[in-house]
Amino acid sequence: MDSQQNNTSDAASEDQTVRQAEMFANRIAKNYKHLKKWAKNADVECFRIYDRDIPELPFALDLYSDRAHLQEYSKPVMDVRAQRRWLTAMHEAAAGALKLPLQSVVLKQRHGQRPNEQYRKLAASAQDFVVQEGGHRFIVNLTDHLDTGLFLDHRQTRALVGSLARGRRVLNLFCYTGTFSVYAAKSHAASTTSVDLSKTYLDWARRNFELNRLEPGRNRLVQADVVRFIEEERKSKDRYELIVLDPPSFSNSKRMQGVLDVQRDHVALVRGCLSLLAPGGELLFSTNLRSFKLDAGALAEVQMTEISEQTVPPDFRNRRIHRCWRIQEGLRTRDSGLR
Ligand SMILES: C[S@@+](CC[C@H](N)C(=O)[O-])C[C@H]1O[C@@H](n2cnc3c(N)ncnc32)[C@H](O)[C@@H]1O
Repeated sequence: MDSQQNNTSDAASEDQTVRQAEMFANRIAKNYKHLKKWAKNADVECFRIYDRDIPELPFALDLYSDRAHLQEYSKPVMDVRAQRRWLTAMHEAAAGALKLPLQSVVLKQRHGQRPNEQYRKLAASAQDFVVQEGGHRFIVNLTDHLDTGLFLDHRQTRALVGSLARGRRVLNLFCYTGTFSVYAAKSHAASTTSVDLSKTYLDWARRNFELNRLEPGRNRLVQADVVRFIEEERKSKDRYELIVLDPPSFSNSKRMQGVLDVQRDHVALVRGCLSLLAPGGELLFSTNLRSFKLDAGALAEVQMTEISEQTVPPDFRNRRIHRCWRIQEGLRTRDSGLR
């Protein structure tokens, strides 16, 4: 290409960037205006504003109180410098539309990540801040990890856990920062047990408990591989009236044997949890794996009700952000010889 042709195509792509930035800002401002009213009425300060609304602008934008988390999902097609310019323009458009300083909007690129990268441990940082949700307080960090400490698509699932927890022994598997457990404990669960492999996230969970003035005595944090934990717990007499099973789609930490693959392993995990339920207890099973197919055949004898319509919040345009089932310990399970 000669230099004149180069200049022409640079100018064309710059025009396109300007047009896209404007489109992005307009859509964000429009969504925000609409959602702000809903959020105020619902007493929600962290919510999704933009959810890949425009196919050529594959971003998710989440507000966390007075900051925002902007994630880009597109595969890089441009050269690195052009991509950087384009991203900067979209970043500025998002901040401008929300009337936030640029440094309050944290931009992350999610493509190309290795499966386990999202859970790696990074250095502690002063970037933690506190948000509130339904009378609970949570520590959030937008900069140091790929995820933030609070998954917004489970806001309603957390409320459901709170509503089911009173007087029950609650087990939270793959607990991450312990947000389901905090809801359960605040709703007067008899006890909570939160299990995760990661010391970093268990420590974060401990800080979330402290922040909500919940006593450590009744709220146990266990560092373990969930698969092993279930095996061990089956041998004990400890049983639970409510279990939350929200595994990552895939995990291959050094601290566990083999890999965890929710598609391959969900039947064993669900059955394992059923064996830990006390009579009359129930299990909430959820997955974010987009391509997930429940093995209904292998779980035919289990009473499962899909409740995703109830658990996916209204600010998520993508109604398949997660799927969630409520599974009751019941006659069908007891008769089936599952245990
Ligand atoms: C997607 S997060 C779970 C989200 C969480 N349930 C919530 O909504 O806040 C995945 C968590 O699983 C943990 N994890 C991954 N593999 C594990 C395993 N085999 N046993 C225990 N925890 C595991 C990670 O450390 C991480 O905290």
